[in-house]
Amino acid sequence: MLQTAKSLLVVLGVALVCSFVVTSAAVLLEERQQHNLRLERIRNILKVAGLMPDDPFAAYQKYIEARLVDLHRARTVDPAGLPLHLQPDTFDFDKAARDPRYGEPIPPDRLGLKRRPRFMPVYFVRGDADFDKLILLIVGKGLWSTLYGYLALERDLVTIAGIVFYQQGETPGLGGEIANPRWQAQWRGKRAYDDRGRVAIRLVKGGAASPYGVDALSGATLTTRGVERAVRYWLGPEGYGPYLARLRSGGVPR
Ligand SMILES: Cc1cc2nc3c(=O)[nH]c(=O)nc-3n(C[C@H](O)[C@H](O)[C@H](O)COP(=O)(O)O)c2cc1C
Repeated sequence: MLQTAKSLLVVLGVALVCSFVVTSAAVLLEERQQHNLRLERIRNILKVAGLMPDDPFAAYQKYIEARLVDLHRARTVDPAGLPLHLQPDTFDFDKAARDPRYGEPIPPDRLGLKRRPRFMPVYFVRGDADFDKLILLIVGKGLWSTLYGYLALERDLVTIAGIVFYQQGETPGLGGEIANPRWQAQWRGKRAYDDRGRVAIRLVKGGAASPYGVDALSGATLTTRGVERAVRYWLGPEGYGPYLARLRSGGVPR
């Protein structure tokens, strides 16, 4: 009897110690994980802005001004009081899209996603007097996965300054080539809009000769189509389009 009680006590003790160790590790790692996520986000934003500093946090502080855009009202909103997943610096697209207050359904043929947030983050890259570039979060659907990226526009808000896809699950070597810096580099200098302000950028095989054309990936037509759909959607009237138009004409403060 006493022996059984002793054994039970030992088992209980070991279980307690183990659970303490596991819980502490999870809590400590959570902080580290959050830090790494923040660093990753900052690195990607700086990368698409063409900045590769030694100290990403300092550079982000210095050069980047994050804002939250109300897509329906085509203007920025004060994020104070909004949940963490809607703050531009900690924005979580999926959580924001699922949020019953700040997310909304979208027609399935538009983006391939069921929902999107009503507010989206943009990142101004500070210039001497004004801003040099504007970075937009873009999300879409590839063949196998959701594609998350940033598209940078030059000050004219027409010319593409860069693109990165920082999260995607397409096949390496096929659709996964959208993450290849060499493929991403050919976006630079392309024109997103035509002279009448309509979204003009296209992804076509051998289309790189046009100022509105980016070469489609061979063997990855479906991923390419997803990228084109996402970029055109977010630049268009349902996405950042109206806000960009107002910003271009000086109609809204940033
Ligand atoms: C194992 C496997 C993985 C594939 N992965 C992709 C992919 O990531 N993206 C994509 O667009 N097509 C992928 N495909 C190919 C598509 O099924 C389709 O053939 C292709 O998009 C057609 O592109 P093309 O017209 O440029 O040849 C994959 C096919 C196989 C068999």
